[in-house]
Amino acid sequence: MGLTWKPRVLTALLGAAVASGLTTLILILVEATDVLLPTDTKFGIVFDAGSSHTSLFVYRWPADKENDTGVVSQALVCQAKGPGISSYASNPAQAGESLQGCLEEALALIPEAQQRKTPMFLGATAGMRLLSQKNSSQARDIFEAVTQVLGKSPLDFWGAELLAGQDEGALGWITINYVLGMLVKYSFSGEWIQPLEGTLVGALDMGGASTQITFVPGGPILDKSTQTTFRLYGSEHSVYTHSYLCFGRDQMLSRLLAQLVQVEASSPGQDRWLRDYCTSGLYILTLLLEGYGFSEETWPGIEFCKQAGGTEMGWTLGYMLNLTRMIPAEVPAQWRAQSYGIWAAGVVFAVLTLTVTLGAVAGQLLWPQGAG
Ligand SMILES: *[C@@H]1O[C@H](CO)[C@@H](O)[C@H](O)[C@H]1NC(C)=O
Ligand SMILES: *[C@@H]1O[C@H](CO)[C@@H](O)[C@H](O)[C@H]1NC(C)=O
Ligand SMILES: *[C@@H]1O[C@H](CO)[C@@H](O)[C@H](O)[C@H]1NC(C)=O
Repeated sequence: MGLTWKPRVLTALLGAAVASGLTTLILILVEATDVLLPTDTKFGIVFDAGSSHTSLFVYRWPADKENDTGVVSQALVCQAKGPGISSYASNPAQAGESLQGCLEEALALIPEAQQRKTPMFLGATAGMRLLSQKNSSQARDIFEAVTQVLGKSPLDFWGAELLAGQDEGALGWITINYVLGMLVKYSFSGEWIQPLEGTLVGALDMGGASTQITFVPGGPILDKSTQTTFRLYGSEHSVYTHSYLCFGRDQMLSRLLAQLVQVEASSPGQDRWLRDYCTSGLYILTLLLEGYGFSEETWPGIEFCKQAGGTEMGWTLGYMLNLTRMIPAEVPAQWRAQSYGIWAAGVVFAVLTLTVTLGAVAGQLLWPQGAG
């Protein structure tokens, strides 16, 4: 009699174990949807105090994706009224006041509850670099004046500082590669992957008073003063970077103008703009071909852009990412979350699978084949 019922029971137990096991597996593989949790938006503000003008950038990102790549977007760009802060050497207080308008625009955008937690930085580039070489006490007065104005705001002001040319280049390189998703990628299979070194792009930056070039060279960097190394998402990047002070657009134009005998210096606005525009174009061409040595073969590899991914190119985003340590040195830890219900069901089915399997094994041991 045992011979007839035993195989049936064992088959049934085996079937149940397989079904239960499969259910467990499916439950484990179901990924949680993260739309259920409302995510906070965080903000960060950077003033780019350039030689010809000052711009303010407001960046925003979802709080829970702080260390993910490419999630920071530009929420606002504002041009401060008047010239660059280095032009206020004779009246430093006005340098601070010139930032007020943009500051108010930024405050209007950021919810009041979040303002105290929003970091704000001011970085000054070549215009102030030139001024601090010429008269460092004037440069100091200007920094004090802007610090006073920005420090009074409800935001979390981290300070105003002079950016070295090399840092400007390196941070611009971080910005473009971050925005293009070149530093690290979250693959479809749910893993962080390092894009190939060859896909990283180099950065050329044409400013008013200086110009920067930054890239990962094919060979070793011989002059260590031109090398900047950083560790981003688990990879070490060694970039060559150089800033040429006085090779910026405006510096070149003023040098050129000084050389020309009369040039219709008093010509009305439109002509002057067109003239500068054409001269700048020619200058950039000359710089690339004769200064940096690009050739006809390498020319198509150069892309001219002011923006990428809705974000202005430049050093500011890289600066904020670096100072807030939003780009971790190591690849972010991976968490796979599951909703509580699915997790509980998974446990129940796992226990069931185990019980049924043990039952089948016990049956096999207690009533060995042929015992009936
Ligand atoms: C720097 O500027 C201050 C204030 O304008 C002036 O008193 C001083 O003489 C200047 N110093 C130099 C070296 O030009
Ligand atoms: C990045 O930030 C650190 C301080 O957090 C600073 O020492 C370093 O110079 C910064 N890097 C660049 C390229 O500015
Ligand atoms: C981002 O990385 C920093 C440092 O690596 C860490 O302190 C911080 O908690 C991370 N933030 C998130 C949201 O993972």
